[in-house]
Amino acid sequence: MDINKEIAYKASEADRMIYQYLPAEKGYQKTIFAAMNYSVLAGGKRIRPILMIETFKLFGGSSEALAPFVAAMEMIHTYSLVHDDLPAMDNDEIRRGKPTTHAKFGEAIGVLAGDALLNYAFETALGALTIEPDNKAVHRALLVLARKAGVYGMIGGQVVDVESEKQYGISKNRLDFIYQLKTGALIEAAMMIGAILGGATDEEVDKIEQVASKIGLAFQIQDDVLDVIGDQETLGKAVGSDEKNQKATYVIFEGLDKAKQEVADLTKEAIDILQDLPYENPFLTELLRWMVLRDK
Ligand code: IPE
Ligand code: IPE
Ligand code: MG
Ligand code: MG
Ligand code: MG
Repeated sequence: MDINKEIAYKASEADRMIYQYLPAEKGYQKTIFAAMNYSVLAGGKRIRPILMIETFKLFGGSSEALAPFVAAMEMIHTYSLVHDDLPAMDNDEIRRGKPTTHAKFGEAIGVLAGDALLNYAFETALGALTIEPDNKAVHRALLVLARKAGVYGMIGGQVVDVESEKQYGISKNRLDFIYQLKTGALIEAAMMIGAILGGATDEEVDKIEQVASKIGLAFQIQDDVLDVIGDQETLGKAVGSDEKNQKATYVIFEGLDKAKQEVADLTKEAIDILQDLPYENPFLTELLRWMVLRDK
């Protein structure tokens, strides 16, 4: 099957898990439900849910507790985008081919929709404890989700990202710190939770974290490359956002060609570690390869 078709099919599989946890739009506060659903249903590649499901399958997982984590993962990622687009942050108006949440609902509801998705993500993920109260893996997965989304993960990276605007002289270490946290951390969470719920050993979860860390870094470098050479229509978001905000990026730091090479090298290193494991999921490997070549 064509990889794009296969990814679209996997995304629809993930969507089925996600949709069942979205809130009904009723009650006095229904605007917040509408804004949450608008942001999640706007689309998106569903990379993190797919990575979670496919890593779970890699380890032969069968736990019913997976679905609430898949939904929670996409809610947290979507909230990170809603807040990332706010005027106080990257100030972007187009996301997933549609007006950003604050552009559609106003800034106050934009802030609250992000808050709401974050909180609802944990409300949803905690539901896994009801499904499998005695499964220790659920407890571990909850901790990974909380930590990687927080100040030692995505939020921490976003903080240093905004503080590094207009500072082209930052060190490579600081740049790597930003990328590993703002983007790498949620990709690590996605794959690690898939592994944990799939029954991986601690050692295997560590290996998966290494794979995801490299893929996360490559994914953000590719995002920066596409911000320069991508097409707005295909991407579903404005190009030139980094230049507008004078962001410190890999493209600025080492030029377009070296940045592209770095994406290819990191992906190869990640796939090598993955293939060292005594299990196989050919689609997962193909997905990691596709993530380097993507144009959206
Ligand atoms: C965008 O993530 C933000 C980054 C971390 C680069 P995605 O490229 O996965 O965005 P969607 O979910 O497909 O919209
Ligand atoms: C994304 O970085 C990091 C997040 C945690 C949202 P960007 O700011 O480059 O993401 P896009 O390009 O707006 O999707
Ligand atoms: Mg940003
Ligand atoms: Mg942005
Ligand atoms: Mg970007």
